Amino acid sequence: MTNIKISNNLAKLPPYLFTKINQLKKEAYDKNLDVIDLGMGNPDLPTPNHIVERLCDTIKHHKNTHKYPQAKGIPKFRKAITEWMTRRFGVDLDPENEVLSLIGSKEGIAHLCMSYLNVGDYVLVCDPAYPVHFNGVSLVGAKIHFMPLLEKNKFLPDFTKIPESIARKSKIMFLNYPNNPTAAVVEDTNFWKEAIKFCKKYNILLVSDNAYCELTFGDYYAPSIFEFPEAKDVALEFHSFSKTFNMAGWRLGWVCGAKQLLYPLEKFKSFLDYGAPMFIQLAGVAALNGSQDYVRKLSKTYERRMKKMVYGLKKFGWNVNPTKGTMYIWAKLPDKMLKESSLSIAEKLVKDTGLVVSPGIGFGKHGEGYIRMSLVTHDKRFHDALLRIGKFTKNYI
Ligand SMILES: Cc1ncc(COP(=O)(O)O)c(C=O)c1O
Repeated sequence: MTNIKISNNLAKLPPYLFTKINQLKKEAYDKNLDVIDLGMGNPDLPTPNHIVERLCDTIKHHKNTHKYPQAKGIPKFRKAITEWMTRRFGVDLDPENEVLSLIGSKEGIAHLCMSYLNVGDYVLVCDPAYPVHFNGVSLVGAKIHFMPLLEKNKFLPDFTKIPESIARKSKIMFLNYPNNPTAAVVEDTNFWKEAIKFCKKYNILLVSDNAYCELTFGDYYAPSIFEFPEAKDVALEFHSFSKTFNMAGWRLGWVCGAKQLLYPLEKFKSFLDYGAPMFIQLAGVAALNGSQDYVRKLSKTYERRMKKMVYGLKKFGWNVNPTKGTMYIWAKLPDKMLKESSLSIAEKLVKDTGLVVSPGIGFGKHGEGYIRMSLVTHDKRFHDALLRIGKFTKNYI
């Protein structure tokens, strides 16, 4: 066999977080353990019926949708997106020039890095973060300046801590609120204004990854960055169908913003793909134009699960607080467990109890000392999950 080496940038990356977790999960299944999987943020509930029906009908009766689509998204899809953005956020976007369809926002974020960055450019990335925010940068050979998300700062980055010399060399800043993995939300909208001001000052593309804007609890409202003045000059916003409509496997999302800022990604993707299949985009239209009751019900489901887990974890001495959004619990390990790494705890939890969680370190250095639990199993299973955590925690007392 010839010895052909993979690219240096790819070789430098460790295996993707979930590769390791999936291996452990497989071993647990092989041992016939009753696995409860709270690892990946992979929604357990099905895609709403009207969306599935739209897909089936389209693929069966509209054969022209089997052809190559338009790379930037078919007009109907782009129109549905801009109308949804107006209804939802009161934001006006031009469907022809200010929105681009994606094969999931993960694809778009990775390719955005490739379309904007050169070797040596800096990117401002939160730590912890959704992994593509840093892996996308590393794959291009650009440099990362991590902005720590600390509990004492409500898991928001402190822009004043970014050295001027780094800010000057930075090309992109990634922000994601409601946040994966910390489940933090932005409560003081001045944060967004500060971010916009900072990025304008240093000529940085501000990327708001808004994958969880619809999964919020109580009266908390997650805005679009375009609700803030001057954001259009400097920001792009990514959206995903995966969590909002339980369409994670459908691979559909969009990015929106000013034509000039979108253009590099549109150009890049024109060489690479043809966009999501037309029948998937049309199902996306059904999702956006249909009743949003399903989404509100889904948020309530996650809120109920979150409360159950937070209450149970607290009872076992874990220091966790209720959240205002997302589908995650970001749990600080109890003091007695902190002698071990989050990876070791996650490994033991799977091996000993069959409970799959994500080790905080997988999301960045500042994720050490935490584990993330995705609220993606049947409501009844959280009781079992808590019993297992309770028993596991007792070993440390
Ligand atoms: C913050 C964040 N952005 C983007 C994504 C990816 O979404 P998509 O399924 O649209 O690629 C995820 C998925 O977990 C996420 O947590």
